[in-house]
Amino acid sequence: MQGSARNIAVFGAGYIGLVTAACFAHLGHRVTVRDIQSERIRLLQAGDVPIYEPGLGELLAENKELLTFTLDAAEAVNDAHIAYICVDTPPTASGDADLSRVWSVIDSLRGAAHLTAVVVKSTVPVGTGARVRTALDAAGLSHVGYASNPEFTAEGRAVADFLHPDRLVIGTDDPATAQLLRDLHAGIDGPVQTMDVASAEMVKLASNALLATKITFINEIATVCEATGADVTRVADAVGLDHRLGRHFLNAGLGYGGSCFPKDSRALRAMASNSGYSFQLLNAVIEVNDLQPRRAVQRLKAELGTLRDKHIALLGMTFKAGTDDMREAPSTVLASRLLAEGATLTCWDPMARPAHTQPWSQAERRNTVTEALTGADAAIIVTEWPELLDTDWETAQHLMRTAVLFDGRNLLDPDAMAHAGYTCLAVGRATRRPTR
Ligand code: UDX
Repeated sequence: MQGSARNIAVFGAGYIGLVTAACFAHLGHRVTVRDIQSERIRLLQAGDVPIYEPGLGELLAENKELLTFTLDAAEAVNDAHIAYICVDTPPTASGDADLSRVWSVIDSLRGAAHLTAVVVKSTVPVGTGARVRTALDAAGLSHVGYASNPEFTAEGRAVADFLHPDRLVIGTDDPATAQLLRDLHAGIDGPVQTMDVASAEMVKLASNALLATKITFINEIATVCEATGADVTRVADAVGLDHRLGRHFLNAGLGYGGSCFPKDSRALRAMASNSGYSFQLLNAVIEVNDLQPRRAVQRLKAELGTLRDKHIALLGMTFKAGTDDMREAPSTVLASRLLAEGATLTCWDPMARPAHTQPWSQAERRNTVTEALTGADAAIIVTEWPELLDTDWETAQHLMRTAVLFDGRNLLDPDAMAHAGYTCLAVGRATRRPTR
């Protein structure tokens, strides 16, 4: 690797930037990470990891000789061959992606004529690369290659996804830049797809939209299952055995959340709308997903008669297990809706950082599942944390005021829960009543 090792400036020390930096260092490259948040950089310089991502801390520690962290953009590009842009692109009021952070990085590259390539990993609307190319040309950097290299990493397994990807997508109009990116990723196994910039940008948006559609499809089937007596988990298992369909992303639940699917599906819809086209399938996906946690509250209300003055335990706050990320977590909508209905809340999560903003400031955080359940009129499983599988539900039942459980992840065996004394509501499955 020594011969082909490069100096890489990574802009953005979030989930994507840090994983990208740590993995490139692991591959032998020298990486300087630049972020605008001083606390984040201070932690990284001190050897701490500001986010939780399995394997990331170890990779950063093992490769600390190859990693530098800075607030200074000029220092980051100083002797870099490649600038990797991994900043966030949050939604604006119109649903479009806010590219201001991308543009401020591009601005900071003015004068960096020694660069060989600029690569955008951030999720951006199709056409962004062409605009960046124009900006680079105008800044006297027409000799610097440009590529789109979208990420497909899922939180909780981002390091593994980076090192063992289903595919590596390289979007560039320049063969030398394509080869440079292939060389940068030497040591990573996975098929490489090289294409034009616009197509690479679209691959990312299309992949996320299709995955969000798959989840939403099974959530719709779940609703029909509830009305007809079918069991969505059995349906998904059998449907998923068709190799053309596959079982992945067919788990019905409380709707997708996280930093990507909600934002990217809205961004793709906005992109289509901006060109005068209404992306009807995506409109439906977004609408159904918004409804999903609200439906859960409605079903619980029907079960309890009212939610006013009922004490509800929320089990899990993060948008999925294995992460501390609360972005667009269904738990936040659930908590707000339950409070609006007059309920009081306790919550438990092994990883979520304390949240002092609404609605969480009104929920009492407990350290264990059992403590959260104590005195509750009902509990909702929001996140599929393994701790919930290990909970002694039989004992916990006696601590609750009424043993009503809404399994929002279809995590537990509803018949076993009924046997343990619970009324068990689940997504796309018949409600079970206590059998003893
Ligand atoms: C996703 C994509 O998987 C990744 O490729 C992309 O780069 C970023 O977005 P991530 O948001 O980390 O990754 O999580 P993922 O595991 O894909 O789950 C997204 C959401 O869908 C979660 O809220 C999850 O609970 C939900 N989900 C997933 C379901 O409700 N059912 C499923 O069957 C799968």
